Amino acid sequence: RVLDLLHRVKYEQDGSLTFRRSCAHGVCGSDAMLINGRNRLACKLRIEQLGKRRITVAPLPGLPVIKDLVVDMDGFFDKFKSVQPYLVTESPAPERERLQSAEEHARYEDTTKCILCAACYSECNSLAADPEFVGPAAFAWGYRFAADERDGQRKNRAKLYSGDHGVWDCTRCMYCNERCPKGVDPRDAIEKLGGIAFNEGVSWADAGARHAKAFLISMRTG
Ligand code: FES
Repeated sequence: RVLDLLHRVKYEQDGSLTFRRSCAHGVCGSDAMLINGRNRLACKLRIEQLGKRRITVAPLPGLPVIKDLVVDMDGFFDKFKSVQPYLVTESPAPERERLQSAEEHARYEDTTKCILCAACYSECNSLAADPEFVGPAAFAWGYRFAADERDGQRKNRAKLYSGDHGVWDCTRCMYCNERCPKGVDPRDAIEKLGGIAFNEGVSWADAGARHAKAFLISMRTG
């Protein structure tokens, strides 16, 4: 794996080489980096998959570099926190646990696989145009809770996510779906958040929402 190569360089050639890794098994999300021009997890990528002799590694693009392959993730995590990535319930706590059906869980199961590696965020085109854009990973988490029947904040979440730098500013380039190493498909989550915003009636004033509505009318009538 590319991670093993980095270890060999660090242990045998240059101890100053700096990179993050923890689990080494695609779970913690700490070793996302640009490998041969594309964001990936170094621990998940086997050398043979690259099919080339020459391998290039670089820090995640678009994020401030601290040292070598280590980038500053503070902005990424601030945006993650801004979507309230936790269950907010309104009913009293049950004796044991809040249950849900398998069907209810299936609605957002893909988004629970996000490991916050920032591979999608770092190559997001909307973010390149607007550094304040909340970003695909955070919205995937937003959808995870907006779609959860046990959460009592669906309308408030729809408002929160539809504001400035929100879901309607996504350029739909689909890079986030392509880059995600876990199959989360953040763009799909953003699209579903737009649907929730429509259903909750909170986004009609937004230019992006009006654009989407115009497409819908166009498809229905033409
Ligand atoms: Fe944990 Fe790669 S080291 S995901």
